[in-house]
Amino acid sequence: MCGIVAYIGQNEAFPVLIKGLQLLEYRGYDSTGVATLNGTLNLYKQKGKVQDLLNFTANKKTDGTVGIGHTRWATHGQPDNQNAHPHVSHSGRLSLVHNGIIENYATLKTALQNKGYHFSSQTDTEVLAHLIEDIQTEQLVPLDEAVRLALQQVRGSYAIVIMDKDDKTRLIAARKSSPLAIGICKNGEFIVASDAMPIVEYTNDIIYLDDEEIALIDLINGLKITTLDNKSVALNIQRVDLSPEMFGKGKFDTYMLKEIYEQPSVLRSMINARLDPQYRILFDELLPHMDKFLKARRIIITACGTSWHAGLVAKYLFENLARITVDVEYASEFRYRNPVLFPDDIVIAISQSGETADTLAAIELVKEQGIFTYSLVNAVGSSIARLTDAVSYLHVGPEIGVASTKAFTGQVTLLSLLAIHLGYMGGKIPTQQYTELSKELEKLPQILAKTLICNAQTQKIAYLLKNHKNALYLGRGYNFPVALEGALKLKEISYIHAEGYPAAEMKHGPIALIDENMPLVVLATNESQKEKIASNMHEIKARKGIIIAIVDEHDTQITQIADYVIVVPAIAEPFSPIVSVIPLQLLSYHTAVALRCNVDQPRNLAKSVTVE
Ligand code: G6P
Repeated sequence: MCGIVAYIGQNEAFPVLIKGLQLLEYRGYDSTGVATLNGTLNLYKQKGKVQDLLNFTANKKTDGTVGIGHTRWATHGQPDNQNAHPHVSHSGRLSLVHNGIIENYATLKTALQNKGYHFSSQTDTEVLAHLIEDIQTEQLVPLDEAVRLALQQVRGSYAIVIMDKDDKTRLIAARKSSPLAIGICKNGEFIVASDAMPIVEYTNDIIYLDDEEIALIDLINGLKITTLDNKSVALNIQRVDLSPEMFGKGKFDTYMLKEIYEQPSVLRSMINARLDPQYRILFDELLPHMDKFLKARRIIITACGTSWHAGLVAKYLFENLARITVDVEYASEFRYRNPVLFPDDIVIAISQSGETADTLAAIELVKEQGIFTYSLVNAVGSSIARLTDAVSYLHVGPEIGVASTKAFTGQVTLLSLLAIHLGYMGGKIPTQQYTELSKELEKLPQILAKTLICNAQTQKIAYLLKNHKNALYLGRGYNFPVALEGALKLKEISYIHAEGYPAAEMKHGPIALIDENMPLVVLATNESQKEKIASNMHEIKARKGIIIAIVDEHDTQITQIADYVIVVPAIAEPFSPIVSVIPLQLLSYHTAVALRCNVDQPRNLAKSVTVE
């Protein structure tokens, strides 16, 4: 939540900041601001998107070779010009951008107000600007020391960058529980950002700050990192494998559609990298830990949002194929529940961004108890990836559309590979079945490419769906989590209320909602449950519900009951979620487009939820 970017070097800061903010808009987009420095401070803030700020600054003075920028997702104080960042200290000397929440801001604010400080916003962030300046002037310490002393008083999470009007050669950055990366360019420039995207156009050499670290970025003396308790930190420069082309929309109008269409190719790369020529599955990163997996009493999967749905599919996969008990936990509930944990449990975090605050906190909790942790993450070098004892990366490329698509299918594919691998290693899957399942997965990318042919049909059905206020999504077995995911996709981008349910549970409540105005999306691709699904559909038809069924190419039975049918290719049942979710992604996409919604940046949402 909230994106921050900063630049210091020999070139103009403003274009770097604007470009960076555009790439970070997925983190929040209710207001934007920049400050650049060239003797005087050029400070501009606007409610709305980066484009609104760009229009506003069109004929204004923006020059300067140092600057900071922010794109906001409001927590404290409504989205308006006043609450937008950067925030400026009492004297106007310091300006600051912040991602996170200062939990004890009210106490700090009262103390500062009692000393005569005036606040011009309702944000928690403004407290930081005044507090740092207060320490700087009272204790006569350099800015980096004032930042350190101020942060020692702060509870909560922060990624901050601070600029001093009187010093255009330095920036100070710090983080705790909110991400911050520093790009180190060959020509002595530095770019600081919430993730690597704004940086890689200029350099692939990046330092990811760790919690409670403060960076003094000095154009003359270079970069120095210290901890909150003033210990010096060695610079750990990583080379990231990302290029600016990965962040474009290509031939598509939206990131979401591009990412839906990327699924066959990114999954092909994943599967090819994980299968050897004899169809053996490779998880080299887990070799040192395999014993732990095979002896695990239980796997606990913790995640949020779409990643939680992928975890729920994994429960079916791991229990069926590897015969391992799996619990799937919302990270936000798990972390506060005082859960019972056993030393031989394994906790798996699933996260596209690797930065979700609740998932991160859940992992911190179990690590404190000495439990082995493992993560499936897309964003390389992210906090969750670095915190867990082992990590497997999805490598599906940056996902920018707020509604997760290729990350979900990437997660489920990787979890399928892992379930088969563990099943085989633990003696639960015989060699022949192991090879058959691996071969079936190898066909998945081709099958997904064929699945995308349903695009035209989903577009037609979207014209029906867009006229309704509610929808129900039903599935059984492997397709139950897909029903949840389909409903989430529809509500998050088209704002149509939708609920996912296990098909048989319909009788315990949702059936009361069914009449001739209720569309029901029924997932009917799993062969083993077809009879049962057909019965559920008859129950719906008896109440005049409108059925949109997802069926596989061999179906004859379901097609006769449904009002509308979307046909997808057949695949072995454990992998059916990866195929059946595609029409649901497309259905929500076309519905949102038909309703003229902003598909990539739906209202109130953000892609990376770094606050609880
Ligand atoms: C937000 C995003 C979702 C995502 C969820 C979890 O709600 O909008 O698309 O599934 O966070 O994020 P993560 O990065 O941990 O997978």
